[in-house]
Amino acid sequence: MLIHLSSWPEIDARLKQTKTVIIPIGSNEQHGPTGLLGTDWMCPEIIAHAAEKADESIVVAPTFNIGMAQHHLAFPGTISLRPSTFMSAITDWVSSLSRHGFEKIYFLNGHGGNVATIEATFSEIYAEWSFVGEHPDFALKLRNWWDLPGVTSLCNRLFPTGHGSHATPSEIAVTQAAYPDRIKTADYAPKIAPNGPIRDALDYRARFPDGRIGSDPAQASPEKGQEIIDLSAAALIRDLAEFSAEVRP
Ligand code: NI
Repeated sequence: MLIHLSSWPEIDARLKQTKTVIIPIGSNEQHGPTGLLGTDWMCPEIIAHAAEKADESIVVAPTFNIGMAQHHLAFPGTISLRPSTFMSAITDWVSSLSRHGFEKIYFLNGHGGNVATIEATFSEIYAEWSFVGEHPDFALKLRNWWDLPGVTSLCNRLFPTGHGSHATPSEIAVTQAAYPDRIKTADYAPKIAPNGPIRDALDYRARFPDGRIGSDPAQASPEKGQEIIDLSAAALIRDLAEFSAEVRP
């Protein structure tokens, strides 16, 4: 069940059967000369929606599609929140969903740059409860889609060299499978992009002129992307079932 395509009575009824909800979360930021700006929010959305298609008891919230992208702001089309805004927004999403009775809130993340701030937000939220000595009536979980069991080993097998860490062939392949009419090509020079540290936006653009880090996205294909989606969606269904079955001590 996708929340944005449901009515409130449908959600009300579903809450009698499940208390778990997935929030796909990512970022809208440059992904090299051929990658879609939405790549980091589209990948978790594509995987979560594929899981929901296979098991319609799964509830998926709208995608949280803007994240921590200050280092990509020297590239047009990138939209970023500052960490404090991101933390406030995540807190309000959690408060809204938990108010209705969702007790297990699972963030499926598509952007490595979000991880530290999402985890800091979880700590802030739990601290509010810890200081007053009460138990929240919800639990939070963060999972990067590439950390779902089996996904990284599949990506390593599909792309043994030139995977890199930004504008990777695996994430671009996932978007190609879901949006085959949006596939773009370019002559990448160099073939495999450089590696290096991530700092501010101008430093990033100087180090990584076309936006990629360590990757050769020319290896991406819709077929490889579909393989990644199928494995990720199946792994997500199992991971969610485990999270849902967790019993509060
Ligand atoms: Ni990405």
